[in-house]
Amino acid sequence: PRSFRIVVLPGDGIGPEVVSQAVRVLELVSSSSSDFDLKLETHDFGGCAIDKTGEPLPPTTLKACQEADAILMGSIGGPKWGVDAKIRPEPGLLALRKTLGLYANIRPANLASESLLEYTPLKPSVAQGVDMIVVRELIGGLYFGTRKEQGVEPDVDTAWDSMIYSVSEVQRITRVAAQIALAADPPLEIHSIDKANVLAASRLWRKVVTETLSKEYPQLKLDHHLVDSAAMLIVASPKRLNGVILTENLFGDILSDQSSVIPGSLGLLPSASLAGAPSAPSADFKPTPGLYEPIHGSAPDIAGKGIANPIGTILSAAMLLRYSLGLEAPAKAIETAVRKVLDTPELGGHGLRTADLGGSIGTTELGDHIIEVLKSIL
Ligand code: NAD
Ligand code: IPM
Ligand code: MN
Repeated sequence: PRSFRIVVLPGDGIGPEVVSQAVRVLELVSSSSSDFDLKLETHDFGGCAIDKTGEPLPPTTLKACQEADAILMGSIGGPKWGVDAKIRPEPGLLALRKTLGLYANIRPANLASESLLEYTPLKPSVAQGVDMIVVRELIGGLYFGTRKEQGVEPDVDTAWDSMIYSVSEVQRITRVAAQIALAADPPLEIHSIDKANVLAASRLWRKVVTETLSKEYPQLKLDHHLVDSAAMLIVASPKRLNGVILTENLFGDILSDQSSVIPGSLGLLPSASLAGAPSAPSADFKPTPGLYEPIHGSAPDIAGKGIANPIGTILSAAMLLRYSLGLEAPAKAIETAVRKVLDTPELGGHGLRTADLGGSIGTTELGDHIIEVLKSIL
């Protein structure tokens, strides 16, 4: 059987809680097939790595990630290593993304199940039929336009971050958005989000997106929105943004959390960070390892209680199988199992949801149900 090496980075807060459920799912997938074998290894990353080694991304962890076929991460950060700490977890995540060249962050935000309509804080008629994919540029813009420690020094009364984008950085993320749009039948519309009325980097963004698409993908429909008005549309009439939302790093960070109100919880949404457009790896081409993580953070307010929703992480594991290992069948099976568990009242009605979705079952119990349904599908 083909053997794949998967590095698991549980991280901090609820990270280990949600990752352990996704690991159970991957182990089941691996033991159910004689065609491939998933070799999982866990490494220190984030705040827990700071406590152990003094740095959030120890060299051994980075090396393991570089040599892996794919990386599954939980979340990092927390009050113990807060914004005033000298050494913080978040720069470790930025360094991991940057070192692996993972410039394309793909965050699908749709209502995975009609039964979630009950939980969205939006009117069901507003949330129903929303199907958008945020394509967020991940290794440029304000997150990396820094000098010294983001311009902050104890004796200086000014701090700064710069939004810097080059033509080639905008071109490559535009091409990823285009390829995702074209993979759908019919092709998806592209909504590019910027702040071109104020920011020079956004005016470059808009020009390059427009030129790249009209030259290379003239068949695709494109419109532009200013980020302030797009933020309003995501909650007022999100269907107007159905398709691909193409945007820069910080806008994509904010808008993707906001888009999670559509399905009803931040805990539901997965993500993939890739060094190019998603495409099944071929025998002679091994892509840079992709990084897969839920879009949420370490949720310090509920950490340790065993009530976090593991679905975003489990769906991230499905994206890992699909995009980094080319294993479409088990990826689909996981998505089907999650949907079934959310959809089937006989499995326990309202009880089959974690607290973020108004239910009362814990992280492991939800994992149990998903595993049970998955067993019957695989
Ligand atoms: P958060 O995403 O951790 O939590 C926001 C809210 O959503 C909280 O009320 C939390 O309880 C809830 N929530 C999040 N995930 C949930 C889940 N799976 N199930 C149920 N409820 C869930 O955001 P925050 O509190 O602003 O940030 C906490 C820490 O996480 C910070 O240190 C931040 O830097 C870090 N963070 C890390 C990542 C990452 O590792 N990729 C992403 C975002 C934030
Ligand atoms: C995310 C997180 C990260 C980001 C932080 C923790 C660096 O919010 O993955 O969405 O801003 O990219
Ligand atoms: Mn975020």
